[in-house]
Amino acid sequence: MNIQFLGHSCFELTEGDTRVLIDPFLTGNPKAPVAADELEPTHILLTHGHADHYGDVVDIARRTGAAVVAIPEIASELQGELGEGHEIHNPNLGGTVTFGWGWVKLVQAWHTGTTPKGTAHTPAGLVVHLGGKTIYHLGDTALFSDLQLIGHRAGPIDVALMCIGGHFTMDRHDAVLAAEFVGARQVIPCHYDTFPPIETDAAAFKEDVERATTSEVVILQPGETHTP
Ligand code: NI
Ligand code: MN
Repeated sequence: MNIQFLGHSCFELTEGDTRVLIDPFLTGNPKAPVAADELEPTHILLTHGHADHYGDVVDIARRTGAAVVAIPEIASELQGELGEGHEIHNPNLGGTVTFGWGWVKLVQAWHTGTTPKGTAHTPAGLVVHLGGKTIYHLGDTALFSDLQLIGHRAGPIDVALMCIGGHFTMDRHDAVLAAEFVGARQVIPCHYDTFPPIETDAAAFKEDVERATTSEVVILQPGETHTP
């Protein structure tokens, strides 16, 4: 199983012929290493509908036919955009969708949410099981103590994809405690250095987490791939 960082909060998880794209913000993302039309996902997962996560979901899903997983309010907006025939799954928080290759579970994230068209919804984190590994994308979230519960219930977590940029999410200091709560074997930081308000020191985050916890922090540059 491979994890490719596509800048900001966007990752593609690949195992064999399965390509799971999360939060496909490519167009307008100054850190995107590829264009939206170069991606060929089989599945697209959304943490929430803010433009820096929703991104190119409609164009990519329409072109590739990729199945989409999103919380009900976003799922129904997308069903309208993509047509009744498009495969869209609408779990709410606590729900799990099972595929031939594994499963996706929606968990809490403390944040706000509207789509670019104005559809209000509750944001989520995503726990994904693929290729025998469990990956937890925290979405956009502030620090909250139930991250311990998610880590306990879904664990052991192999890799946590964790926002650290501050301003719109928790910052790198709160994220150290988040890393302790989640207890993943490895942490890949994201949602930082894309725009000035979320500039931060990822190397300092790595040092702090590795001093305070047993997690290893893997810093990826946009375009880089990690095999957990
Ligand atoms: Ni957001
Ligand atoms: Mn965001």
